[in-house]
Amino acid sequence: MKITSAEFVISNSDPKKCPNEPLPEYAFIGRSNVGKSSLINMLTNNKNLAKTSGRPGKTQLINHFKINHNWFLVDLPGYGYAKVSKSVKATFQKFITEYFEKRENLTCAFVLVDIRHEAQKIDLEFINYLGTIEVPFCIIFTKADKIGRVKAQEAVAAYRKTLLANNWEEMPQHFITSSEDKTGKDEVLNFIGQVNDD
Ligand code: GTP
Ligand code: MG
Repeated sequence: MKITSAEFVISNSDPKKCPNEPLPEYAFIGRSNVGKSSLINMLTNNKNLAKTSGRPGKTQLINHFKINHNWFLVDLPGYGYAKVSKSVKATFQKFITEYFEKRENLTCAFVLVDIRHEAQKIDLEFINYLGTIEVPFCIIFTKADKIGRVKAQEAVAAYRKTLLANNWEEMPQHFITSSEDKTGKDEVLNFIGQVNDD
């Protein structure tokens, strides 16, 4: 699938104010700084669409981007950023939870994890939470340019082992990506294209 148009639609902290068109949407979630906004820019071939930063905590709102006039990519704030205040954390948590639990046209969540790190408790908790609320999700390993291919495969195998040990029956659909060298771009876009066609 090719992206021919990508437009910013709205940012907000109130899931009720998200666009009300019943179009499929795909949300990017994961720890702060894992590369959610960068991945959206990589997929859409637009370096300036979603705001990125070397410092964690950049994305603070729910951001809708309309793609090819008929589906949405959604950039979300990261979780697990220690330096935001407790009240900010609680606010994020509230609207993110509300978004995942109430957003009817949420088609699939992409849970991003840094391929260099072993499975983190907070990510496993979030994955289990998505399982509990029955939101379909994929795992996206990010920053694959930082390690070699063999190491990347080893990281995925280790992740799989951890998930199986955490009561998952199988490794969910997953993608190895890099926003630097565009690894995984076609795979992620083809997946979205297939789901949209179903
Ligand atoms: P928050 O909005 O703070 O939650 O962060 P985020 O998950 O949106 O991360 P963002 O896309 O802003 O990227 C964080 C940092 O990681 C930036 O310095 C990016 O340049 C860098 N980065 C993101 N993806 C990649 C990648 O695939 N490879 C490399 N080498 N760096 C990356
Ligand atoms: Mg971001």
